[in-house]
Amino acid sequence: MSHKVGGLIASGKTKLVYSLDDPSLVLLRFKDDVTALDGKKRDVIPGKGSLNAGISARLFQLLKENNVHNHYIKMYDPSSLIVRKLDMIPVEVVCRNVATGSIVKRLPITEGTVFDSPIIEFFLKDDARGDPMINSWHMMALKLASKCEIDEIVELTLRANDVLKKFLSSRGLMLLDFKLEFGRRNGEILIGDELDPDCMRVRDASTGKVLDKDLYRKGASLDEVKKAYEELYRRIVET
Ligand code: CDP
Repeated sequence: MSHKVGGLIASGKTKLVYSLDDPSLVLLRFKDDVTALDGKKRDVIPGKGSLNAGISARLFQLLKENNVHNHYIKMYDPSSLIVRKLDMIPVEVVCRNVATGSIVKRLPITEGTVFDSPIIEFFLKDDARGDPMINSWHMMALKLASKCEIDEIVELTLRANDVLKKFLSSRGLMLLDFKLEFGRRNGEILIGDELDPDCMRVRDASTGKVLDKDLYRKGASLDEVKKAYEELYRRIVET
């Protein structure tokens, strides 16, 4: 069944959300923009939108096949996905297997430390406050989610981590960390948003080659960033 695309509902730094003729669904269009440092650094990499849409579609499909509930329905075109419309919870849920990024600045942990079991962190999506880290007590006090919903978010995150780690490892890739966002639909918690190298750290397992947005954060050329995303696309989507 083909869908009729309606008006623009929301516009983010790297994605646009459009309504569809079925009000329970929305279209997620991935832009070619790449941003870092809360949007202070920004560029356009032609083709990036379709690489990220394809990677997100493949990984959400993989999670679905493993019963890790998420919003993905199908691809609409190379840079757009049809997903279930969710009532989004304004929290970023980060899951870490290996220490890098903000955690090594915040805590006395050495870069590259492999955790015995994954670490989960919550960050409030609040630009004005610089997305502060919060815990489950804050989430309940701010009425962002109930205890039961937080338990469900943690369980889905840990299950997603297991499935993604195994899948990526079968392709010679190592998953250091990733970020998920969640929403509600008919009282059920689902994973929403995106799942691609803009929101995960993935390295080649044998060479350590960086294949994610850290390249852009650290000043690599746009061509190098695009080549890394293309390589990740080939290894995740085409094999
Ligand atoms: O990216 P940064 O070092 O600032 O923060 P982090 O807390 O170390 O990021 C952990 C993981 O979450 C990385 O895979 C980031 O790409 C992802 N992340 C994200 O997708 N969006 C954010 N606003 C912050 C982190």
